[in-house]
Amino acid sequence: METLNTDFSPHSSQIEVLDALNNEGIFRKNNFKYITLCAGRGWGKSLMAMFQLIKWGFSAPNIKLMWVTPYSIQNRLIYRQLLEILPGNLVKESNGTDGFIRLANNSIIYFKQAENPDSIRGVHVQYLIIDEAQDISEDAFNSVILPTTQYGKKILIIGTPKVRNGILYYYYNLGLAPNEIYKSFKYTVYDAPKTKEQLDELQLIKLNIPFKAWQSEYLAEFCDTEGSVFINILDNALLDGFSDPLPNNQYFSGIDLGQAKDYSVLSIVDSEYNLVYLDRRRKQDYDTIIDAFSRKIKEYNDAVTLWETNIESYLFEQSKSKIKNLNSFNTNRGSKKEIIEHLAVLMERQKIKYPKLPELIKELSLFEGKYNATTRYVQYSAQGGAHDDCVISLALACWSVLNYKNRKIQHFFI
Ligand SMILES: Nc1ncnc2c1ncn2[C@@H]1O[C@H](COP(=O)(O)OP(=O)(O)O)[C@@H](O)[C@H]1O
Ligand SMILES: [Mg+2]
Repeated sequence: METLNTDFSPHSSQIEVLDALNNEGIFRKNNFKYITLCAGRGWGKSLMAMFQLIKWGFSAPNIKLMWVTPYSIQNRLIYRQLLEILPGNLVKESNGTDGFIRLANNSIIYFKQAENPDSIRGVHVQYLIIDEAQDISEDAFNSVILPTTQYGKKILIIGTPKVRNGILYYYYNLGLAPNEIYKSFKYTVYDAPKTKEQLDELQLIKLNIPFKAWQSEYLAEFCDTEGSVFINILDNALLDGFSDPLPNNQYFSGIDLGQAKDYSVLSIVDSEYNLVYLDRRRKQDYDTIIDAFSRKIKEYNDAVTLWETNIESYLFEQSKSKIKNLNSFNTNRGSKKEIIEHLAVLMERQKIKYPKLPELIKELSLFEGKYNATTRYVQYSAQGGAHDDCVISLALACWSVLNYKNRKIQHFFI
């Protein structure tokens, strides 16, 4: 290994896993085929696996190995990092487009992504590494990935836990009971050495993401597949009512326009996340609704407004002349997650206050995250088709605070 460009001295938790992979140390009498490693982000899963892959690759000539990730972008990253580690004289041939590295001894490493299962079919390897396994579908895993190692020697499954579902969870559980085929390991992000700066950064992350996300992504705990998103709902209902605009305050608003029979909601908060105004209406034409909303926004010192533009986006364009500091927000799976999780953190840390509005309280209580096994994403929505317009508009107003507070208002006027 001293001929590699980069040195690798595994930390003590990595050594435990490496011993199981190499039948060494306390595992010298074992020969596990499936080794599952669940660890928090940044523990060093991928790096450790890369060095193990190189070791396997040079254990004999003509070995076939494969690295599988859910998506191609992660794949290209690992491909490049491996080439950085390997000095030129140890690489016979490499091709990023086709995704392979042929080592000097004719061993070959394939890089494949699970989102393109057809490219994996027909490949046979002795050693297989599945990275970010929490995002790989059971279907792709069982139908194309697993058959590649029918006669294989070792399969390393690594990932950061998400929900109690999927292949990472399945293999992790198989390896918990004493047996000779499956072995599992689980480590938190703190089970790897950290500098003072890294510890400070982790503290900051912990303060800024929902507790559930912290538990799964950093403490490597598998979470419930579904559940309520917001806590402290009544504890945060501390305001007596709405409050009038104060001349020197900056305000922020969120608009969620409802289709047909749905409600349209405007929420206005101050820069300390106090809900100062909320208007929820339906069965009116859009002009009436938008007129009422724009008047209020103007009253609140031209609040910096985020407007959800997935539906009727022409109305947004038409309203630019009526609302001075208007910004659009396009909801998709990722952006919705961001604004909802931001609101969830404010609720958890009791940094938001609102009056005891029955509709808002009800919507916050019924809002839930549901794991979708096909997309492997947690989807946020109201339970059983209940309304969620108050939640969305409040989340947009809070997102507006986060993004536009203390910035020059003119800057956002397009
Ligand atoms: N044993 C080690 N010694 C030094 N740095 C390490 C070690 N293990 C991991 N790292 C570094 O820690 C960071 C995170 O590693 P990575 O493998 O990407 O983590 P993970 O895949 O668990 O999220 C990288 O910068 C990597 O180089
Ligand atoms: Mg990784």
